[in-house]
Amino acid sequence: MKVLGLESSCDETGLAIYDSEQGLLAEILYSQVELHQRYGGVVPELASRDHIRKALPLLETALEEAKLKAGDLDGIAYTAGPGLAGALLVGAMLGRSLAYGLQIPAIAVHHMEGHLLAVFLEEHQPKPPFLALLVSGGHSLLIEVKALGVYRILGQSIDDAVGEAFDKTAKLLGLGYPGGAALSKLAEQGQAGRFHFPRPICDQPNLNFSFSGLKTHAMMTYRSLEETEQAKADIAHAFQEAAIDCLVIKTGRALRQTCLKQLVVAGGVSANRLLRQRLNESMREQGAEVFFPRAAYCTDNGAMIAYAGCLRLQAGEYEDLIVRIRPRWPLDELPAILSD
Ligand code: KG4
Ligand code: ZN
Repeated sequence: MKVLGLESSCDETGLAIYDSEQGLLAEILYSQVELHQRYGGVVPELASRDHIRKALPLLETALEEAKLKAGDLDGIAYTAGPGLAGALLVGAMLGRSLAYGLQIPAIAVHHMEGHLLAVFLEEHQPKPPFLALLVSGGHSLLIEVKALGVYRILGQSIDDAVGEAFDKTAKLLGLGYPGGAALSKLAEQGQAGRFHFPRPICDQPNLNFSFSGLKTHAMMTYRSLEETEQAKADIAHAFQEAAIDCLVIKTGRALRQTCLKQLVVAGGVSANRLLRQRLNESMREQGAEVFFPRAAYCTDNGAMIAYAGCLRLQAGEYEDLIVRIRPRWPLDELPAILSD
């Protein structure tokens, strides 16, 4: 079964073709970063227009790369949410109408489920039930994966997502957009121990996160200092240590509470090297195994949408003729992926 995946929920146009027999046949990613950079963040209207401009030419390239014709496809999966409404509409309209024209099923994919399932594009795979930490620009979620499609939310951010806090702090330090990876790089030059940032709500027994205070703490610290490259690096270091500590503390607690022995970490922030290292260390101490997708599948991409769509299509799921998007879409409202 060959499924085209379309990702357009934010500032990346990602397309991929996944074959249930042969794996990925094509994958293309076009990033709008340059377009939004001068505004310091994603401008939704510009994002939608750029997805419109790029989607069809990229589709042609993907088909060429896979040496396929549109008629060879068995289904078209698109990100239906969560994300920016206009950007989602582009992928959804294109995917749904293309599927109609080709008389094949269309599948609406949840972006965060795409991130979660990206780990199954790797050789080293977990087996449900497992714990998942999903960390991106819009979400910080701890979930219990009882079975594929059956998710229980154990904790989430009560304010900014962790990627958002990385981006906002990076912007403050003049690192441009999106700043998560740049902040992490700068942090390597930071002096350990010069600043100590708080670990918000880590003393509370729940599994929620709070990151907006860290960003404010970074701002207050920055304002109190002379503006030097070293000061910026020291702030980046302290911020990253604190944010990662919060993720590691709550994830460890979730593992103990659920007695699960496997952890999947996915979403853009899971590309962070220090987070990977700290989670590996901490989970090893707890006797649990950790699974990460490769870095390219941590951040937004079409492959994860094609794969998730293929799984759901194989389970007999597809959309009717209405184009639906869900800019807000709780992960625990998805139906189970039932294999026969
Ligand atoms: O999953 P993703 O590509 O898009 C969303 O679904 O939001 O995640 C993007 C987020 C951004 O906030 C970006 O700054 C962050 O992931 N990110 C990182 C790193 N690479 C990407 N944050 C920290 N360290 C990184 N290496
Ligand atoms: Zn994402």
